[in-house]
Amino acid sequence: MKKTITKAVFPVAGLGSRFLPATKATAKEMLPVVDKPLIQYAVEEAVAAGITDMVFITGRNKRAIEDHFDKAYELEASLEASGKLKLLSYVQEVVPKHVNCIYIRQAEPLGLGHAVLCAKPVIQDEPFAVILADDLIDGEVPIVKQMVDVFEKHQCSILGVQDVPRANTRQYGIVSTTNIEPNIEKVHGIVEKPKPEDAPSTLAVVGRYILTPRIFHHLETIQPGAGGEIQLTDGIAALMKEEQLLAYRFDGIRYDCGSKLGYLQAQVAFGLKHEELREEFAEYLKTIA
Ligand code: UTP
Repeated sequence: MKKTITKAVFPVAGLGSRFLPATKATAKEMLPVVDKPLIQYAVEEAVAAGITDMVFITGRNKRAIEDHFDKAYELEASLEASGKLKLLSYVQEVVPKHVNCIYIRQAEPLGLGHAVLCAKPVIQDEPFAVILADDLIDGEVPIVKQMVDVFEKHQCSILGVQDVPRANTRQYGIVSTTNIEPNIEKVHGIVEKPKPEDAPSTLAVVGRYILTPRIFHHLETIQPGAGGEIQLTDGIAALMKEEQLLAYRFDGIRYDCGSKLGYLQAQVAFGLKHEELREEFAEYLKTIA
C-alpha cells in the first residue's frame, strides 16, 4: 500500500551560536523575517503539504516556541476588546485547528542526527519530513509539497538539494548522484562538509528531507562524527546502502537564515513581497542604493 507523509519534525534545539547574542534566551528559529518567526514559515510549508502532526525537537529555549503555537488567551481577549480584529486573526491563525503540535525535549544538543532520533517515539514506523526552519525557501509551490509529490511516486527517502558555489562545500552535506528524471537524482554517496577540492560535486543538501523510518535504526547505531555530534548525514549514508535514496532539485529561492547575510537577504526579499510594506520599502531601498 502506498504511504503518505502526515508528520514533520522540526529540530529547533541547536545553539544558534552564529546569532548570539540574539539567541541567548530564545531559539534561532524564533527570529522573525518581517513579521513572522522562521518556525512559522516552516510550519506553514508543512501544512501546505498536507502534514497534520508537527513534532518540535526543542532545547533549552523551548518556551517561546511552545507559546507561539499555543492559544494566547490574554492577548486574544485584549485584541478583541480593543477591536483589533485583523491582529487577532494573525494570532489565531498561527496554526490551523486540525494541526497537532507535539514537543519533545533534546536534553543536550548532540547533533542534528540525534535531534531527529528524539522524534522516534512519535514517528514510529512511518515515513516523515524533516524541516530546518533556518533554511527559508520561497517557492511558488511550497518545497515540502514538491517533495511529498516526489515521495508519492517513488516511496523512498528524498533529500532537498541545490547547487552551491564550490568554495562553499564545507558548509553542507554534498551528494554524488546520477540524474534519473528532470530534477531528480539517484544518490550514490554523501559526505558531510567536504573541502572544495575533495567535494564529489557541488550539489548540497539543504534543510528539507523526507526519510523512511529505517533512518532511526542507523541514527541509533552510528558513532558520533564531525564535531563529536551524531550527524544526520552519517545516518543517511548508512541508509543509502540499504534503500533507494533520491535527491530532488527543488524549485525555489533559498535564504540561509542561519547566517547573518542570508537572514538580511530574506528580510529584503520578503519585505519587497509584503502586502502592506512592499511599495514604501521599495522606495526606501532606492534611496540607499
Ligand atoms: P546548525 O548546524 O545550524 O546549528 O543546526 P545551530 O546550533 O542551530 O547554529 P550555529 O551553527 O551554532 O549558529 C541545524 C539545525 O539542527 C538543529 C538546529 O536547531 C538547526 O535547526 N539542531 C542542531 C538541533 O535541533 N539539535 C542539535 O543538537 C543540533
